[in-house]
Amino acid sequence: MGQDLHSLSADLYKNDSAATTPKQLYGSDVLGGIWEVGFDLFQDRKKFNADFMIANILNTEASTLPPLRGTFDVVYICHAMHLFDYSKQLAAAKSPISLTTPCLGAMIIGSQLGAKKAFDMHYASFD
Ligand SMILES: C[S@@+](CC[C@H](N)C(=O)[O-])C[C@H]1O[C@@H](n2cnc3c(N)ncnc32)[C@H](O)[C@@H]1O
Repeated sequence: MGQDLHSLSADLYKNDSAATTPKQLYGSDVLGGIWEVGFDLFQDRKKFNADFMIANILNTEASTLPPLRGTFDVVYICHAMHLFDYSKQLAAAKSPISLTTPCLGAMIIGSQLGAKKAFDMHYASFD
């Protein structure tokens, strides 16, 4: 639902209209419709100042992400890597890395789930 992006947009732009301030925030998910739930929940469609893009983190070529590669100072990825097995996690890690600017200080932040002892757990809906 992009709750962290809604929070960041509200903190950064406070009373500014989304129509007049340049976009600096982007969110991405493989499911597009989920963002509508976020707008319903936060009631901030007119003030929300970020773009959502549909992209499969395992294959971003068919999305609108490629032109943005190398342009982000901060990439935030949260609770996503545990959806994939180890080999797909390696593939998925390439996308946030490719989005960061090739400059000292660019960073990837967020939190992920894991276990001290690695194991595979399969969910059919994400295979
Ligand atoms: C556990 S939710 C976490 C959502 C959000 N990052 C958060 O912290 O609340 C995992 C999200 O990953 C998305 N997802 C699953 N497979 C994906 C893929 N291949 N590419 C991009 N997003 C994917 C799901 O649609 C879902 O919204």
